[in-house]
Amino acid sequence: MTRTLATVEELAEEAQVLARSLAPKSDGATLVTLSGDLGAGKTTFAQSLAKALGVTEHVTSPTFVLAKTYTLKDQTFSELVHIDAYRLKEGELQSIRFNELHVRPDVLIVLEWPERVRESLPKADVALSLSVGPDETRTLSYA
Ligand SMILES: Nc1ncnc2c1ncn2[C@@H]1O[C@H](COP(=O)(O)OP(=O)(O)OP(=O)(O)O)[C@@H](O)[C@H]1O
Ligand SMILES: [Mg+2]
Repeated sequence: MTRTLATVEELAEEAQVLARSLAPKSDGATLVTLSGDLGAGKTTFAQSLAKALGVTEHVTSPTFVLAKTYTLKDQTFSELVHIDAYRLKEGELQSIRFNELHVRPDVLIVLEWPERVRESLPKADVALSLSVGPDETRTLSYA
């Protein structure tokens, strides 16, 4: 499934649709991966998803902290963890305690740059890919 998103607002609407469609699983965390080139809009999408889940604090790019946790209120998930794997090497996922997070059904993990850690990353529940088109248009694909 592919969607064309002409503006950041349209991207945010799509993030809202995704937020509404996600439900915790009994066997572990829900993993959403965001692929796409530098500047494709992965962090922007993650910020919109956080907002749709009621996060009011500013969601920064986790590029330097690698992973950032947001507590969710009145949501089906109790935590959103936003990970940027850009600076991780294959095998380094555990440096952010990924396995401990991934066993928790109450956690929603949104991970940018899954290709950096492909071998150690479990299969995503939702794999998204963003690409930049003409003007500021983005194309979002659901794998
Ligand atoms: N339709 C659109 N969808 C998403 N972002 C857009 C759109 N139009 C313009 N932008 C802009 O493109 C930029 C995307 O940057 P963002 O940090 O989200 O990318 P990224 O994929 O996370 O990059 P990185 O790989 O460096 O982490 C933002 O400045 C955003 O405002
Ligand atoms: Mg980013």
